[in-house]
Amino acid sequence: MKNILSWVLVLFLTVSLLNNCLSHKVQKEISQKKSFIAKLRELYASGDTSKWPVPMLDEEAKPYFSEIGHLPEIQFPADNIYSPEKTVLGKTLFYDPRLSGSNQIACASCHDPELGWCDNRMVSFGHDRQLGTRNAMSILNSAYATSLFWDGRANSLEEQSQMPIQDQKEMSEHIDMAVGKIAKIKGYEILFERAFGDKTITKERVTKAIATFERSVKSPPSKFDRFIDGEANLFTDDEVMGLHLFRTKAQCINCHNSGYFSNNRFENIGTSLLSSEQEDLGRYLVTKKPEDVGKFRVPSLREIVRTGPWMHNGTFTSLTDIIQIYNKGNPELYKHRTTIYNGAELISHKSDMLRLLDLTDEEIMQLEVFLRTLSTKNQRISPPILPQ
Ligand code: HEC
Ligand code: HEC
Repeated sequence: MKNILSWVLVLFLTVSLLNNCLSHKVQKEISQKKSFIAKLRELYASGDTSKWPVPMLDEEAKPYFSEIGHLPEIQFPADNIYSPEKTVLGKTLFYDPRLSGSNQIACASCHDPELGWCDNRMVSFGHDRQLGTRNAMSILNSAYATSLFWDGRANSLEEQSQMPIQDQKEMSEHIDMAVGKIAKIKGYEILFERAFGDKTITKERVTKAIATFERSVKSPPSKFDRFIDGEANLFTDDEVMGLHLFRTKAQCINCHNSGYFSNNRFENIGTSLLSSEQEDLGRYLVTKKPEDVGKFRVPSLREIVRTGPWMHNGTFTSLTDIIQIYNKGNPELYKHRTTIYNGAELISHKSDMLRLLDLTDEEIMQLEVFLRTLSTKNQRISPPILPQ
């Protein structure tokens, strides 16, 4: 009996000792993690990017890399400089459905400020409620895009702005007819005179005014901007870790970099769905170069919460799903990697910068909460009074 009792005592002592050791170890790990995050917080919120941990970049990403940070000042082109009067005119035209064939559809129909300056639909509908094939991009921060559209087929906002007017599925109006209609509206004369010095209404002036307005639509500082400016306690521990993962282990920064969170390049992340009903050859449609099959413009991640559903075809409705796909290295179904186009075989080559990331569920959550810090609240924009 005595023997049994002492054995029980020994066992009890061993278990509690082990337990103590283990909880000590866990405690130590937690405190190490806490001090690691505290250190990261201090570095990232220092306001000095030279103190930030080195980003994990692939060799091929390096030539096009610039550090994430604030959006720089907006640059207006020399042949279309900023003026508040031109912006007012541009905003009025942006909201004016008389630029469309039916007199019912304005740019603002698909780029609605209350819907993140896009339409939050998978793909847009336009003239006669016809569906397009691509997801409407937000015009927020489009001043920072070096080419426009998912495939970069327009080189400037001036060039871009005529395209939806003429697009049969969007506004379905000949550009000269559209401008002719505007020129007949008496109330526009004064707006053109203020913006351009005289009453003449031309296609060039219409497109320049719209482009100037679009350039002025810029995000205000986000939670991320304030955090890196020194408001160190604004981010939760998870958001700090998310920012760090974005720049390191998850390697999002290879493509989504600069203050715009895009390097403005074209990349293939395995979304072209070749040989399916949704096949989209992307950049290839513009350049006709086989290596551009399935490439799309790297989109900005600013305001991402407001601009869903995501990707060129709007098929993703969850940011978690997107991060999970990246985590798996963007597997692309074998049968969707090739297609026959105009008699030639085209092959989709996914970027070598995508690979298994080995992120834990916690890390996936942290990346997502960080992405959310790049968005700001919807601002109330009062629509202009349309001239008669
Ligand atoms: C019927 C809906 C619809 C209308 C109307 C419309 N857009 Fe768009 N917009 C889209 C879609 C869809 C895309 C993406 C198309 C693509 O990439 O092929 C887009 C893309 C853009 C982009 C590119 C943004 C970027 O980051 O590259 C700009 C700028 C833009 N539209 C401005 C305008 C202007 C200006 C008008 C009015 C003259 C207009 N849109 C009318 C649906 C529309
Ligand atoms: C190789 C370059 C590359 C890397 C690396 C990369 N992306 Fe992307 N990302 C893209 C391209 C290109 C698209 C657009 C593809 C499309 O529309 O089909 C995109 C789209 C997105 C979108 C949807 C944006 C929208 O407006 O629809 C999100 C969100 C996103 N990426 C997040 C991430 C995250 C998070 C990481 C890191 C885990 C990451 N990306 C890594 C190139 C990249």
